[in-house]
Amino acid sequence: MANFDVVVIGAGPAGYIAAIRAAQLGLSTACIDEWRGADGKAALGGTCTNAGCIPSKALLQSSENFEQAGHHFAEHGVKVKGVELDLAQMLKRKDKVVKASNDGIAYLFRKNKIAFFHGRAGFAGKRDAGYEVAVAGAKPEAVLARHVIIATGSNPRALPGAAFDEDRILSNSGALAIPEVPKRLGVIGAGVIGLEMGSVWRRLGAEVTILEALPEFLGAADETIAREAAKVFAKQGLAIQLGVKITKVTVSKKNVTVQYTAPGNSTKILECDRLVVSIGRVPNTEGLNGATVGLRIDERGFIGVDDECRTNLAGVWAIGDVVRGPMLAHKGEEEGVTVAERIAGQRAHLDYNTIPWVIYTTPEIAWVGKTEQQLKAEGVEYRAGMFPFSANARARALGDTSGLVKVLAHAKNDAILGVHILGAYASELIAEAVVAMEFRGSSEDIGMIVHAHPSLSEAMKDAALAVGKRALNI
Ligand code: FAD
Ligand code: NAI
Repeated sequence: MANFDVVVIGAGPAGYIAAIRAAQLGLSTACIDEWRGADGKAALGGTCTNAGCIPSKALLQSSENFEQAGHHFAEHGVKVKGVELDLAQMLKRKDKVVKASNDGIAYLFRKNKIAFFHGRAGFAGKRDAGYEVAVAGAKPEAVLARHVIIATGSNPRALPGAAFDEDRILSNSGALAIPEVPKRLGVIGAGVIGLEMGSVWRRLGAEVTILEALPEFLGAADETIAREAAKVFAKQGLAIQLGVKITKVTVSKKNVTVQYTAPGNSTKILECDRLVVSIGRVPNTEGLNGATVGLRIDERGFIGVDDECRTNLAGVWAIGDVVRGPMLAHKGEEEGVTVAERIAGQRAHLDYNTIPWVIYTTPEIAWVGKTEQQLKAEGVEYRAGMFPFSANARARALGDTSGLVKVLAHAKNDAILGVHILGAYASELIAEAVVAMEFRGSSEDIGMIVHAHPSLSEAMKDAALAVGKRALNI
């Protein structure tokens, strides 16, 4: 039986990065993953690469290009006649982008001499030298690991009584591969996937209705940003209904009927051609055989870990979506790095308070740190500074002045507590705020830094200056 210092189960962003860092540190490393591409072969990268971050961003970009060409180029004096959608090509390009990422990870595994096994991994027992892990693949194999890092990710949560068939009732996988633009697309859940996938199909011509259980829109985001975003999305034509309770979903060959209760207790019906269900994700421990070795799973189905990703078993670690914390690729990646470093005997630290969030709608939404409503609830004294992109010259040149930057800083010591952005390239702009927070920066620090002109990042500077009521451009 092959023997390794580290065996990583799962080659999503958490697992493959953990494997690379472990190998960089001189540990003999193997990674086992069961994902199969359309050709039946291994497709490294997990949910993120195959059915998440990467294909969704490819379609968001393509559909935004279609929307720009069809509706916004003329404003710039660029006349385009006969703009047509070639959905098959758009989906093909998305698959190509995914394949390039799959291949990139395979290359990194070869470069770092990481042994890869294709198949489902399950604990087979414990020996003095480590854990025995069985691989159920084309040819059954087993490996012995001094340390095991579990990075088995998550699966989409289904709506009770409406199982995914990926034809009419779609999870993220189906939502990324609809073969023709539905006339009416229903979406359950106005969270991150609902907004991103709803945006893609609306831009391509679908009438999109999103049904959300909670009474407020985007409760996790800062309330100013959520309020502004709701206005922009409504203007774009995304119909979002809040405070609903889904009572019944009926599927026929051609369409889906969703019965629900709207606020005020009225019963309503949504008829749609396809229905995306995006109501959160559940940790995946299927087939891992954790019970064989006594692995503790918590009451919500996550693998129980401490602050440093240690499970209840010595030498077994867990990272990424399968453990507590936000289900984000970059959170899993950083956990992978820190765990590999701990196994190698290093001290490693991950600050969960500075993990950025991004929603890749148009405009994008990005934030880091606390929201204003959290600060209020915690009784923290703070000052807020805001700056709208409508007063930013680069945003005007770009032709997208929607949104704003909001900086929240401590009232006494000015430490940045949270930064919230709604606007073009918010995903890129947020990095400055993350750096500032990691360095325990103040709003005054950002206000004093020279920002290139004209650039969207000047809105960050002006919002920081606005904390001290000294924004220059408004
Ligand atoms: P996963 O990526 O789920 O990988 C787990 C891997 O383990 C899979 O390949 C699985 O096949 C394998 N596996 C599971 N069990 C076994 C077993 N027993 N044996 C062998 N292999 C096994 N996050 C972002 O940060 N940014 C985004 O833009 C973003 N967009 C998203 C869009 C969508 C539509 C979705 C669904 C998610 C998105 N996410 C995004 C979330 C992101 O995909 C996850 O947070 C991330 O993939 C989690 O990484 P992971 O490595 O923990 O698990
Ligand atoms: P989510 O947690 O973002 O949103 C789910 C939404 O569904 C919530 O608003 C919730 O209130 C609502 N909901 C739950 N049950 C419902 C019901 N029965 N009826 C109506 N509404 C209901 O989850 P989502 O969108 O499924 O995405 C899963 C995770 O994947 C995200 O939380 C995020 O961690 C990750 N992701 C990250 C992305 C990014 O970073 N850009 C993109 C997409 C996903």
